[in-house]
Amino acid sequence: MRSLRELIEERAEKLGVKLGEKDIESVLKDLLRWKVGKSEKDKPIKTKDGSYTLWSGVYGEPYHSITAGAVREALEKFVVPSRVVDTAGKRKRIRILDVGFGLGYNVAVALSRIKEDNPGAEVEVISLEKYVREDIPLLPEPYRSWHKLVLDLLPCGEKEGVSLKLLLGDARGNIKELAGFGADAVFHDPFSPYKNPEMWSVDFLDRVKQAMSRNGYWVSYTSALPVRKALLELGFKVGSSRPVGRKRGGTVATLSGRVPPLSSEEGEKLLTSPFSIPFRDPNLRGDPLEILVDYRLSVLLRERELSSRRTGRTRTGLPSGGQLSGSM
Ligand SMILES: C[S@@+](CC[C@H](N)C(=O)[O-])C[C@H]1O[C@@H](n2cnc3c(N)ncnc32)[C@H](O)[C@@H]1O
Repeated sequence: MRSLRELIEERAEKLGVKLGEKDIESVLKDLLRWKVGKSEKDKPIKTKDGSYTLWSGVYGEPYHSITAGAVREALEKFVVPSRVVDTAGKRKRIRILDVGFGLGYNVAVALSRIKEDNPGAEVEVISLEKYVREDIPLLPEPYRSWHKLVLDLLPCGEKEGVSLKLLLGDARGNIKELAGFGADAVFHDPFSPYKNPEMWSVDFLDRVKQAMSRNGYWVSYTSALPVRKALLELGFKVGSSRPVGRKRGGTVATLSGRVPPLSSEEGEKLLTSPFSIPFRDPNLRGDPLEILVDYRLSVLLRERELSSRRTGRTRTGLPSGGQLSGSM
């Protein structure tokens, strides 16, 4: 098997990026930091609000934030900023695209809140998921009955004004079928961008955009620069949701609605940081590690460009913005 160093050298050669030993070391350092997860735990984990989540040994991360609380995360990072309760009240019918069904918490908490305020609303949910766990802990009250209903409906079904369809498999393939779905809300909740980069590329997000209504809201827990930059490139307005369980808030994006503004510090970083470059996966089939390596090489080019601008030297034939394109 090729080593990480060999992969970096191979991708750099393919992309025409010249690397010195120092460059390789800095790229290697970031990749190791991004890919290495914490230790594996198999048992359900109690989160800060008393609800339970599971650990993913594959990604080295929990399915929900332990410090925010699993239910609180579903409510405050997904249900509230996506405005699903208001939209269901106004339209009586709402479409939700749920990217990364996981344990079904976001869907169950959303249904519970929507139906509490609008019992007659019709809710259509499409979920994308690669692998459904068999050991899903049931949510506590008042979400338990909706969570049971969601798990009973899997993979597809209708009951109590709810239609659920779970498309099992790599979301990058299944998203292609969803153009024109007209989602009023997207719960974008894969594992974190540097561990699960294929779900956060500008190319995948473009497909998600095609499945949304223009007034719809895309929401996620992350504030990662490559994700926000990709959303901006795709023509979204990008804002920040309230921080829950950590300093930084999540992200809210919409094509023609309104978003809470980014702080001036966040806006500045998005404009100036060399890390503010989208992940690329043009064929929606790229290997996750290669997506990350290509991204980190793009950052390296951007750093070189910024430093040559600072020192007043001429640019050395870099693509615009330091962004690699083409055969990635
Ligand atoms: C953080 S968990 C989602 C938690 C979930 N939203 C909930 O409310 O319980 C991320 C999920 O994304 C799924 N996932 C990651 N990569 C995927 C891919 N390429 N295609 C489909 N699902 C993927 C994982 O299997 C995992 O279940």
